[in-house]
Amino acid sequence: MDKPKYYLTTPIYYVNARPHLGHTYTTIVADTIARYKRMRGYDVVLLTGTDEHGQKIERAAKAAGVKEEEFVDRIAEEYRQLWKELDLSIDRFVRTTEPRQERAVHRLLLQAKDNGYIYKGFYEGQYCVFDEMYVDEPLPGGLCPECKRPTERIREENYYFKLSEFQDRLLELYESQPDFIQPETRRNEVMAFVRGGLRDLSVSRTSIKWGIPWPGDEKHVIYVWYDALTTYMTGVGYGDDELQWEKYWPADLHLIGKEILRFHAVYWPAFLMAAEEPLPKRIYAHGWWLFADEKMSKSRGNMQYPQPIARALGIDALRYFVLREMVFGQDGNFSRDSLLTRYNADLANGLGNLASRIIAMIHQYFAGQIPPPLADNAGAPRSVALAKKSADVQEEAIAHYEALQFSLALESIWSLVAATDQFLTESRPWVLAKDESKTQELSDILNAAAQTLRHIAALAFPVVPHASEKIWLALGNKSKLEFEQIDTLAWGALPSGSHIGEPEAIFPRVDKKEASERIEAMEEEIRNPGSAAASSPASAPAAAAAPAAAVPAPAADAKIAIEDFAKVQMRVGVVKTAERIQGADKILKLTVDIGDEVRQIVAGLAVSYQPEELVGKKVVVVVNLAPRKLRGVESNGMIVAASVGPEGKPVLCTFAEDVPAGAKLK
Ligand code: MSP
Repeated sequence: MDKPKYYLTTPIYYVNARPHLGHTYTTIVADTIARYKRMRGYDVVLLTGTDEHGQKIERAAKAAGVKEEEFVDRIAEEYRQLWKELDLSIDRFVRTTEPRQERAVHRLLLQAKDNGYIYKGFYEGQYCVFDEMYVDEPLPGGLCPECKRPTERIREENYYFKLSEFQDRLLELYESQPDFIQPETRRNEVMAFVRGGLRDLSVSRTSIKWGIPWPGDEKHVIYVWYDALTTYMTGVGYGDDELQWEKYWPADLHLIGKEILRFHAVYWPAFLMAAEEPLPKRIYAHGWWLFADEKMSKSRGNMQYPQPIARALGIDALRYFVLREMVFGQDGNFSRDSLLTRYNADLANGLGNLASRIIAMIHQYFAGQIPPPLADNAGAPRSVALAKKSADVQEEAIAHYEALQFSLALESIWSLVAATDQFLTESRPWVLAKDESKTQELSDILNAAAQTLRHIAALAFPVVPHASEKIWLALGNKSKLEFEQIDTLAWGALPSGSHIGEPEAIFPRVDKKEASERIEAMEEEIRNPGSAAASSPASAPAAAAAPAAAVPAPAADAKIAIEDFAKVQMRVGVVKTAERIQGADKILKLTVDIGDEVRQIVAGLAVSYQPEELVGKKVVVVVNLAPRKLRGVESNGMIVAASVGPEGKPVLCTFAEDVPAGAKLK
């Protein structure tokens, strides 16, 4: 019989910035569900991809001084590489710039149009570029109510989607399928929004070029969200591969962050209803990783990246931490201290230590062969109790996985780790080993411990697949754990007499301080790719005109003495030449006349200035900075600039009167 299918998706990530821990979180959750579902016998398809069209990307490419195609290729590749490095079981990766995507989007749109849900209209009002959305009621000062950034006034002829006609059908959907939107609080928010009334939605743009052209009217491009949402269909053969499409659509689960719920729970089902296509079964909006209580985001510059954690502690440690620490659905605070505390407590001293202890004792006392249990288990009440606990935990963990409550599933599985530890402590195999008359008892105990460890490995597999697989094989199992069925897994199935592998430190203990510094150094390299050590293809930070060394900034209100200020020597400089640096988006190589010499300076000005505009400009130069290399190019000084807006856009200073090159600033 064919396996039942399970099709799940992550959001299709924007390529305006490199992937960070937030994006990784959703993808890890999706991978965990995918692994769990495979262990429940499903034919799973996990889709992710990159959202590459729209004004946001158009502008980011412009700021980086490269063509859109080149810009999006670069970040899409970073996403691919990251998922590969983290060994995430991605089955489909769709980019919105692929030809198959355009075909799918046109098809969906034309179906809606043929059904009478698309018309031509006129829009004049405020638009938020960041959220790619019209803002009907901006906050005071013209700010976007979603992201609080300034909106822009636009006026354009557009195609509209008759969203207003779907209010009743959407409400009926939420009523009749209460688990369509989860968690419950999010469902209530969406219902309140839809009850408040829906306006028609503009689904084309004439103000931008970077998008899928409107079929038959090429001065319009299709609205990015219409485009991006359709990716979920493109990836399973919509309009392309009937067999696949029939098999996998509708999606069983769209996993998203809470900020994009409206697009998924209101627009998306309406687009599908208009085209008479089946609706996804469930949308789950999770919370955000916060860093010092703020959302992690590029504009706040407080991103954490997954690679340093995975490289310092292992992929499974990263997975375990994000799933254990965050209650799925709610926000969670990221802290490196709790990451390292959990690592040592739960993984190194917990599962890792338990596994190596059991395997080492079987080697020591039974020459590496799983010893048999007592024939009828009589006289070994502790082993019987442990078997019972294993069965209970199996039931609990499965129920929690089903409810996507990963943190509870792990809590339950780790209670079995603790129970097994206690079982060993109380049974004292090292004492029994000294008394030959106790060999059978010892054998029974180590059998029970090994059976339980096998159970733990299997139950924890969706979250820590690599560690689990290692334990599984070390216990002498021949099959691959990923193909085991988590629900039918029987305690006691590990045959006695089988040979086990060598004990291995699965999660070696780390020195917290040292590990934290190592992670921090790697983070800094990623965050500040302008620094010499960074080899990343992504852009340099926007904030500084010349990226400064990573020294901690003094507190905003800290005072310095005049002598401190006098240490900084600044002069007027005249830019002689300016050129781009290959592979660097935001920095430029300048030569600057500072009166008595011409200096080469690398400055992060490319976001705001074309190289040719800079030539001849008078700038303020810090002349007594130690030389350093940025992207392999020596920089001998720093250009001073204002850092404006959340992106820290550099703006050069001007002088009220003409000043000669070399004039000192005091
Ligand atoms: N391109 C749209 C999605 C289109 S889906 C058809 C988009 N992209 S995004 O790059 O901004 O990614 C947003 C998603 O990344 C969130 O919904 C969430 O899944 C994840 N996260 C980004 N930052 C996050 C946190 N700080 N915390 C947790 N997840 C977050 O929106």
